[in-house]
Amino acid sequence: MTARSSRLATRVVRAARSLPPGAGAPVVPPLVQSVAFAHGSAAEQDAVFANERPGYVYGRYGSPTTAALEAALADLDAADGAVCFATGMAAIHAYLTGCAVARGGRVVAQEDPYGATRAMLERLAREQGADVVFVDPTDMSAVVRALEERPTRVLYVESISNPLLRVTDIAALASLAHERGARLAVDATFASPVLTRPRELGADVVIHSLTKYVNGHGDAMGGSVAGPADVVAEMRDRAIVDGGYLPPHEAWLILRGLRTLELRVRRQCETALAVARHLASHPKIGRVHHPGLPSHPQHELARRQFGDAYGGVVSFALKRDTSDAAFRFLDTLELIASATTLGDLYSEILYPAMSSHRRMDPAERARLGISDGFLRLSCGIEDPADLIADVDAALERT
Ligand SMILES: Cc1ncc(COP(=O)(O)O)c(C=O)c1O
Repeated sequence: MTARSSRLATRVVRAARSLPPGAGAPVVPPLVQSVAFAHGSAAEQDAVFANERPGYVYGRYGSPTTAALEAALADLDAADGAVCFATGMAAIHAYLTGCAVARGGRVVAQEDPYGATRAMLERLAREQGADVVFVDPTDMSAVVRALEERPTRVLYVESISNPLLRVTDIAALASLAHERGARLAVDATFASPVLTRPRELGADVVIHSLTKYVNGHGDAMGGSVAGPADVVAEMRDRAIVDGGYLPPHEAWLILRGLRTLELRVRRQCETALAVARHLASHPKIGRVHHPGLPSHPQHELARRQFGDAYGGVVSFALKRDTSDAAFRFLDTLELIASATTLGDLYSEILYPAMSSHRRMDPAERARLGISDGFLRLSCGIEDPADLIADVDAALERT
């Protein structure tokens, strides 16, 4: 502290603004919880603003802890770079508006994505005149027809769809898109990088809701867009100008979660397959959706694309396919939490007609198979026998 700043009010507010020097680097990357970054000179600061020199200036432009997560995701997603946003929806919005709609580009999208993604696409069409068309991404001739109808900028799919668990053929869709001048963007939230890395199969852009498997602890939200350099630059600009950048504390938590991603997801996939097999022969269950069951329409594709793990989610319809039965089932579960999320260490069950797909037109919901007694179970890392016992006890009383 210099003589110039020796008065108490100055000393307290300026105290401990840097770490004491000393040998030894932290084993865990530190949380850098700072909005602004100081530089040795105005010229240095100017060079960082101009992107002539790597560095940080202001929290919305980039932050070291979030940048560490971005580097990890760029590596896992085999991309030139990644940009993180405050939620998965913020990431999807930045990508769809920045790389398609704002450029007058047509979007051909999976007809059954996460409910808010579909609502966003419908709103972009309604309010901003975006050219959006929905297709069944497992019907290749329908995809080709949609791509050829008018020049398309983006083909948008989920690697495993929420909540019907349809599996998309990423290599085939990438070829169809590229032959017609479009890019393939894949929301890989449900598969996570453990099951599939879409860019290794030919996709251009990979999006995650980091809130789900990547964090996995149910205590932080985030989203990411990874892809080629031009997409990364556009996403960085969207984060700077529109906001929505992922704050450092969330990034730090998500990095903590990421370290156990592989272990967690493998265990969750094994449990989900055991639960799916059990439900498939249960008299009170009408139908079971899980890519690991041979009855799943894309089982062979899933095996080819994912190897021996098929995802940690099982969806099913009660035989008594009504909302009354679904409510009773949810209220009777003891171990599995009725909660609007997935991919956590803890098992969670969701009723799509009440939550994620509430905004969808009921007739369209019914057409897709999201019926009134349809539920989505995200398996955690508890003992599988306890989950099955909880489901059985609730079915008994449903
Ligand atoms: C497949 C998929 N994509 C995106 C999202 C949105 O993520 P977030 O809730 O982090 O905004 C979700 C949320 O459930 C999802 O399931």
